[in-house]
Amino acid sequence: MAIEKVGVVGCGLMGAGIAQVAAQSGFQVTVREVSQQLLDKGLQSIEKNLQRLVDKGNLSAADRDQIRGRLRGTTNLEDLKGCDFVIEAIIEQLRAKRELWNALDKICPKHTIFASNTSSLSITEMATFTSRPERFLGMHFFNPVPVMKLVEVIRTIATDPQAFEETLALAGKLGKTAVRTTDRTGFIVNRLLVPYLLDAVRALEEGVGSIVDIDNSMKLGCGHPMGPLTLLDFVGLDTTYYIANIMFDEFKEKRFASPPLLKRMVLAGWNGRKAGRGFYDYADPANPKPVEMA
Ligand code: 3HC
Repeated sequence: MAIEKVGVVGCGLMGAGIAQVAAQSGFQVTVREVSQQLLDKGLQSIEKNLQRLVDKGNLSAADRDQIRGRLRGTTNLEDLKGCDFVIEAIIEQLRAKRELWNALDKICPKHTIFASNTSSLSITEMATFTSRPERFLGMHFFNPVPVMKLVEVIRTIATDPQAFEETLALAGKLGKTAVRTTDRTGFIVNRLLVPYLLDAVRALEEGVGSIVDIDNSMKLGCGHPMGPLTLLDFVGLDTTYYIANIMFDEFKEKRFASPPLLKRMVLAGWNGRKAGRGFYDYADPANPKPVEMA
């Protein structure tokens, strides 16, 4: 089946990135948000990204206009009825996802493949919210979506192999490298990344090194683009804490247990870059300063 029309539900950081990449890759895209205000915010961020590409000479103004023409924003879920493929990137709450998938299952035709961008919830459980578990899978993108080359494609025990192959092919058409994985909490990346990030917080807690020295160690010693504490600020401490708790619940392994400092920072609202403060202070965003902690 040819996938021509792609629906994206959620136009936050991830949804906007997915919608942008799909429109840039030639698909007709309908992106839905719950309110006009959130939709406008998401569409503005796409506009800003496209303009940056034009300013750098990486995209012509004519191509930008064509991309715009392929992208339609809406607050009405019914507008996704013509989509061949729907990617969900809404809030990580099972109840909200249940309502959404229930509704979409009635709106979209039988051939439509459903994919969730969840990083931690069970794809298998979400598939039960629809009448088409064989056409339901995970498609996990990475932040910032236009830049990061990877997509994890996740099959459940019920996913039809052909729907899985079609999704892998779609990821390729979006310019991404797809990896195949199964519905185990954290998939591949977060299974490896989350314990590493938690260990960086433990190292800080135990006085092994300062914030800057821990970050520089992994940047300069291992060639990572960001040190782990900068990456925690970038991903969001609350997000990482949330994922870690779900992973701990699933595997009952110590390496997924959140260190007390991470929990305290989340309780204090120091959730990273988006909150203006995490391991660094972003009062001057171009020049973050490590935070002194008692
Ligand atoms: N949107 C679009 N493009 C962006 C962008 C954004 N938000 N941020 C940066 N870019 C582009 C820039 O325009 C630039 O493009 P160019 O090469 O054409 O000029 C390019 O990316 C590099 O950007 P910068 O020069 O500004 O900065 P860096 O070289 O430091 O790169 C970075 C920024 C790409 C974010 C890099 O630091 C990086 O790769 N960091 C690690 C990110 C990472 O690990 N992401 C995964 C997080 S885990 C996750 O998402 C899973 C979830 O489940 C937790």
